[in-house]
Amino acid sequence: MGFKLKNTLKVALLAILFSPAAHSDLPAMTAGQQLEFKRDIQVCSYCHSPVGIAEYGAARLEGQPTGYLEAQINSFISHKRNNPLARDLMWGTFDRMDPKLIPYFAEYFSKQEIKSNLKAKPVLVAQGKDIYLNGIPSKNIKACQLCHGEDAKGHGTTPRLASQEKSYVIDQFLDWQNNYRNYSSTMVEISKALDEQEILAVSEYVSSL
Ligand code: HEC
Ligand code: HEC
Repeated sequence: MGFKLKNTLKVALLAILFSPAAHSDLPAMTAGQQLEFKRDIQVCSYCHSPVGIAEYGAARLEGQPTGYLEAQINSFISHKRNNPLARDLMWGTFDRMDPKLIPYFAEYFSKQEIKSNLKAKPVLVAQGKDIYLNGIPSKNIKACQLCHGEDAKGHGTTPRLASQEKSYVIDQFLDWQNNYRNYSSTMVEISKALDEQEILAVSEYVSSL
């Protein structure tokens, strides 16, 4: 955890509603792990706010499949996910953390409800929906729903896209185009084939769900 970050936390603002390992098949945490977890979850929530305001370019994590969350946390720890934001804000986050807590973070965020609070532009949404459901056959781009699901809720290590912050989604396409997140060859290929207008449209659509 970066020192600067810790010092700037306004943890008092956050209401943390959590009972450790509730509804889960994870082993009960030790008392020490519980303390660490409660403290750390406040840090995560400072940027990945549970009320749905993803700040500093952070993603909304609510409702993401646990497998996806764990995979991404590990990609920060191994430094595979290496865009400037990830490097500055996420790499240090797990430095001094007990790795055994990772599944509990995934469990916590995947259980949180996500509520869409976005106003989408109808024209873009219509084009984005078409790309999402049908792909772009002339460019050999597969339908997004094939992997992310018709309702865009994701599963396993494929992420939920529904209600994700639009600016975050757009950033991911730029990261793939710029080889910052190059461990997913599917998404790299898709991103390089989409033009700017198509990226805006599909991002607008998924964030509106
Ligand atoms: C200072 C802000 C900040 C804090 C604190 C923070 N994050 Fe992040 N997090 C980010 C940003 C920014 C990104 C997007 C990085 C990128 O674009 O690659 C991110 C991305 C993620 C992702 C990937 C999301 C996705 O959809 O791929 C996960 C998972 C994650 N963070 C988990 C956590 C956890 C767990 C904690 C607490 C232990 C935490 N973060 C603390 C800013 C933060
Ligand atoms: C063949 C399966 C497949 C198809 C088709 C596909 N995706 Fe993905 N997508 C994935 C996987 C797997 C990941 C996770 C990659 C990773 O681990 O970084 C992902 C990640 C993403 C993310 C990052 C989400 C986050 O939280 O960081 C976005 C945005 C995304 N896809 C959008 C799309 C869009 C839009 C389309 C259609 C144009 C699409 N995907 C088509 C499999 C697919």
